[in-house]
Amino acid sequence: MRSSCPARRWNGFRRVSQSRCYSSVREQQPPPWRPATALDEWAERQARPISLRQLTFFGRTLTEPRLISSANYVRTELPTRLAHRLRDIQQLPYVVVANPHLSLVYELYYKAFERFRVIPEIQSLDDNDRFCDILRDMLREHLVVIPNLAMGVLECRNLVSPNEMDKFMNTLLRARISRRVIAEQHLALTETFNSPWHFQDSHDRTDLNADFVGEVFLKCKAKQVVERCGRVAQDLMRRTSSTAQLPEIIVQGHLDATFPYILSHLEYIVGELLRNSVQAVVEKYHASPHPPPPIEVLICETPQHVIMRISDQGGGIPQEILPYLWSFSKGPRTQTRLENLGRVPAMAATMQELKVPERKVERESWHEGSLDSLTSRPPNLRLGMGLPMSRVYAEYWAGSLELHSLEGYGVDAFLQICKLGNKNEQVTTRAAMDAV
Ligand SMILES: Nc1ncnc2c1ncn2[C@@H]1O[C@H](COP(=O)(O)OP(=O)(O)O)[C@@H](O)[C@H]1O
Ligand SMILES: [Mg+2]
Repeated sequence: MRSSCPARRWNGFRRVSQSRCYSSVREQQPPPWRPATALDEWAERQARPISLRQLTFFGRTLTEPRLISSANYVRTELPTRLAHRLRDIQQLPYVVVANPHLSLVYELYYKAFERFRVIPEIQSLDDNDRFCDILRDMLREHLVVIPNLAMGVLECRNLVSPNEMDKFMNTLLRARISRRVIAEQHLALTETFNSPWHFQDSHDRTDLNADFVGEVFLKCKAKQVVERCGRVAQDLMRRTSSTAQLPEIIVQGHLDATFPYILSHLEYIVGELLRNSVQAVVEKYHASPHPPPPIEVLICETPQHVIMRISDQGGGIPQEILPYLWSFSKGPRTQTRLENLGRVPAMAATMQELKVPERKVERESWHEGSLDSLTSRPPNLRLGMGLPMSRVYAEYWAGSLELHSLEGYGVDAFLQICKLGNKNEQVTTRAAMDAV
């Protein structure tokens, strides 16, 4: 029987890095001739990256064989990518892996790896339905991963160098996005395939007028995303500070800028930036008799990019926080962050109630996502990971996120989105990203 103790299982198949390990671990090193484990085999495999464009074109001509081949792609890709991440965790010193939050993540990944690696080839729609149930279970179960990773990384901040911890966190989060993207895309394609209004009797279920191909929203309009996220940020603020005067959000520039993107990713980033701005302005002006200054969002479209500049007059970022803005593992507010993070796993379950109404109209269906739970948390629940995680999301699709703080005045955030029109750039970028 498999041991339920993560540390014991971890010792059993670890390739120990001598310089970083502890004596108790070294004593238990596996003999050099030990047989290769399933994890060894899967960790040898390369991830097969997929681009946003591939996701879109693949789903546009959705036939039964394509759906089945999408299922098999996910079936082999998930255990491969999980194996790589399990290896990453194993590279950490034992004392870090033994942290309860990190070992919980390790256990979840290991369980998912074991579950997916034994699924036989998917050959029929019935097989696919069962496979989708397993996928949904995994997505649900893994909702606790982000807060646990964040807590683990904070608690272990004195055991490993902060830079190494941040690198580890970035790698795991990026890989987590990649797994969720392929899993959610397949679920969305299956949903489209099964929907009665989607050319039920036709062999080729292509719908050239569809706005969504799986999870990819083809007509992501920057202005609408800003307005929608702005309303959510304002509503959340209104709920927690009823007397506050809220800043207006003004959108200017290229108001028609439209591009394909995974909507939940963009909404997460823009949502976090606007939350920060609304909160800073409200805090600065809460005692003022005058209405607070507006938050100004400028949208700029170039042939390859859409750039959004979010400018507020909330007084800028406090000096003591500035050097740690992009770090998951260091900074002056560790204790508060840890306490607040401890409240998130319970929230993730209930936050599904708080869905943005417009999205229900835009989409035929909806399924839960951990981003929504994090996005709808109350503004006073400071987790200190809004900015670093937004940057991970921005960079995932080859974009970038920068902040300029003008002390005493306000903040300008620059979000650059890659419109993904350039095929070469896309291929290299995606390959590099999935290599993590
Ligand atoms: N626009 C802003 N104006 C002033 N301070 C900001 C702004 N954006 C971020 N900050 C500061 O940076 C900190 C970290 O932000 P973030 O990563 O979003 O985490 P959180 O909002 O959960 O604390 C915030 O707590 C706040 O002190
Ligand atoms: Mg924030």
